Amino acid sequence: MKPSSLLLLFLCFLMACQPSEKYPKVEDPLAHLYDQQLKPFYYGVASGDPTASAVVIWTKLVPEDSLPEALVTWRMSADESFDDVLQSGEIVVTPASGYTAKIDVQNLNEGETYFYQFEYKGQPSLVGRTKTAKSTTDVPLNFAVVSCSNYEFGPFNAYGAIAEREDIDAVIHLGDYIYEYGAKGYGDTTTGRFHLPEHEILSIEDYRTRYGQYRLDQDLQEVHQMHPFFTIWDDHEIANNAFKDGAENHQEDEGDYMTRKEIARKVYYEWLPIREQKQLYRTIQYGDLAELILLDERYVGRTEPVNNLEDPDIENEERTMLGEEQLDWFLAELKGSKAQWKIIGNQVIFSYLNWGYPTFNFNMDSWDGYPLEREIILKTIAQENIKDIVFITGDTHSSWALEVTADPNQEYAQKGAYAVEYGTTSVNSGNTNERGIADEVIIAHEDKITNSEINPHLKYANLRDHGYLLLSLSENAAVAEWYYTPSRVVPSRAMEMAKRAITPAGSNRVLIDK
Ligand SMILES: [Fe+2]
Repeated sequence: MKPSSLLLLFLCFLMACQPSEKYPKVEDPLAHLYDQQLKPFYYGVASGDPTASAVVIWTKLVPEDSLPEALVTWRMSADESFDDVLQSGEIVVTPASGYTAKIDVQNLNEGETYFYQFEYKGQPSLVGRTKTAKSTTDVPLNFAVVSCSNYEFGPFNAYGAIAEREDIDAVIHLGDYIYEYGAKGYGDTTTGRFHLPEHEILSIEDYRTRYGQYRLDQDLQEVHQMHPFFTIWDDHEIANNAFKDGAENHQEDEGDYMTRKEIARKVYYEWLPIREQKQLYRTIQYGDLAELILLDERYVGRTEPVNNLEDPDIENEERTMLGEEQLDWFLAELKGSKAQWKIIGNQVIFSYLNWGYPTFNFNMDSWDGYPLEREIILKTIAQENIKDIVFITGDTHSSWALEVTADPNQEYAQKGAYAVEYGTTSVNSGNTNERGIADEVIIAHEDKITNSEINPHLKYANLRDHGYLLLSLSENAAVAEWYYTPSRVVPSRAMEMAKRAITPAGSNRVLIDK
């Protein structure tokens, strides 16, 4: 072999031995979905957890190379043109948080609209709009309440419709912001919207990709851009029917559940515009008018559900939905609240509810499956004579208006309700007619269970439609309005108000108005 060949061989050997892991070329599984006009902030902007003087703003940088860190600047103004920048700053983003940026902007005025924007190397992000919490009672306080958005079930019409509203103070998301299933695992395969990655999400990369895919949806991106969010998780942010130590959709061959939970939590905090804190449950004040008490009914305290009401374990005092620490906190918040309306951000139905099917009556995953802890809460409400509690609930993919009781046949008949509960339907996740049942049959069932012998306290049920709930609060009343999309599969932002319920202050009643 000639010396030059030897040299060539040596060079080839050196190149072959280069540690290619050092600068891994990571394929971005979502790059084909990017709108190049938004570069490098393809995921837009978001804001959340407003108080009277602060709000969290969010973005995610997509650098061209895998940088160890990057410097992103931000600015906030009272006007959209940024003629008068009120605050600005810099933040270092790193791969450890998936290059997401969150700033808790302080020293703002209450009840004001602000605009914010990020920049990286001269490239600006979209302009976001947000609003701090107000305490005035001059105009109603309006929350859009949503839950259960599944990419595979079709367009996120409810998000698009809310994005266009000008009268919203904040959006409250009660969970199932994403779904963990792989492509075609749970959804409508005719919509052409398939989950990425294609498999069930387990690793940190999987969860990040899934959140990324959802946040590239234009309706979801726009509603985040236009309104601040309060978010809590339900089960699908981890896995179906999640509880403290396991989940229905977590199997042994999918690795350690606690590790998966920790990953799910980390990525949730990366992507949602909420304050970093030890626990997700928290309280937000809207002056004397309202206090928002957001609960975590999955992650910290929930023990495994029982299979049915006959299971003797249902009376086991060890079984909890909130867990001791959160329950103590919740009761203290209820007792200590100075606000008129106590709005409880709740994942699963709190009130007694008989679904009325021959094969399915009570949902053991809801509060009906955790009666002892519910009893403690109801006792506290009664003993302390706490009025004007409104539970807002997701999870069921259906709409509900309930006067809250655990015993509709005796206690409710004699003393009335403890509170009211308004359930929001899904943004688009399937409900009864997605199981192939005709609307007329479902309507007949809704009529059968509403204002009935089995549910005298159930004032409204809709098991067919998708959309959102608007909760409006004033000194005189809490008003719930359900808005439904004309189609689950065709993109549309046109939504009609289908039903209105009113709870006069001090009444614990649900009066159907429309
Ligand atoms: Fe759901």
